[in-house]
Amino acid sequence: MTNLAILSCLFGLSTAASWPNGPFTTSGSSILDASGNSIKYAGANWPGAADVMIPEGLQYQSVASIVAKLTEAGVNVIRLTYAIELIDQIYENDGVDVPISTAFVEALGEANGTAVFKEVLAANPSFSANITRLEVFDAIAEECAAHEIYVHLDNHISTGTWCCSTDDGNAWWGDEDFSIANWTRGISYMADHVSPTTHPPIPSAVDHHN
Ligand SMILES: *[C@@H]1O[C@H](CO)[C@@H](O)[C@H](O)[C@H]1NC(C)=O
Ligand SMILES: *[C@@H]1O[C@H](CO)[C@@H](O)[C@H](O)[C@H]1NC(C)=O
Ligand SMILES: *[C@@H]1O[C@H](CO)[C@@H](O)[C@H](O)[C@H]1NC(C)=O
Repeated sequence: MTNLAILSCLFGLSTAASWPNGPFTTSGSSILDASGNSIKYAGANWPGAADVMIPEGLQYQSVASIVAKLTEAGVNVIRLTYAIELIDQIYENDGVDVPISTAFVEALGEANGTAVFKEVLAANPSFSANITRLEVFDAIAEECAAHEIYVHLDNHISTGTWCCSTDDGNAWWGDEDFSIANWTRGISYMADHVSPTTHPPIPSAVDHHN
């Protein structure tokens, strides 16, 4: 259901003209749904590509509360950013994603990381203590689907950090932190992750020429 929810956000699974009525196509500067109607984005950015590599703000409010506020504000799409390093680490970890408890400690240190992790769990009682980073992305996609908000996945940066500028190692393909092999692997992984018909590829070595 989780993956289906993301897929329906991105491409549309539904029959007839019910939301999201995908797959979408483009025509000139327009995005069209499956019936040829123009889709107009009224979007908000939800950053998830910084050091912890999960969508931000969940120590303050639940996913449900944030998405409800987006709905009230008339938002119909979120740009959900992620870092390629998220997927690199899954490959390094034999295909297993990192629990956010670990991700917080690695990004913020033991004391602060543990403290913020506990705040996230307190604000989001539906999260289990061992929830992984991708499961947080999934929870957001599922809630967005319930509110008919599209999710526009955005690979924002390679190494998870606040960005962006020309000296962040990601200015162009092949830049210091921008391995083209890791990047194509990462965006493929995320596309597969939201598809019910494919699965994340089996971890294998990537050439690191960049
Ligand atoms: C923990 O958070 C406090 C308050 O934001 C900050 O001053 C301190 O530098 C942080 N400690 C670490 C190890 O990041
Ligand atoms: C994660 O925690 C839940 C309880 O919160 C437990 O049921 C589940 O087995 C745990 N999963 C893993 C992979 O440890
Ligand atoms: C590419 O991913 C591997 C892990 O699979 C990692 O060791 C390497 O540092 C990454 N390359 C870059 C440039 O981030």
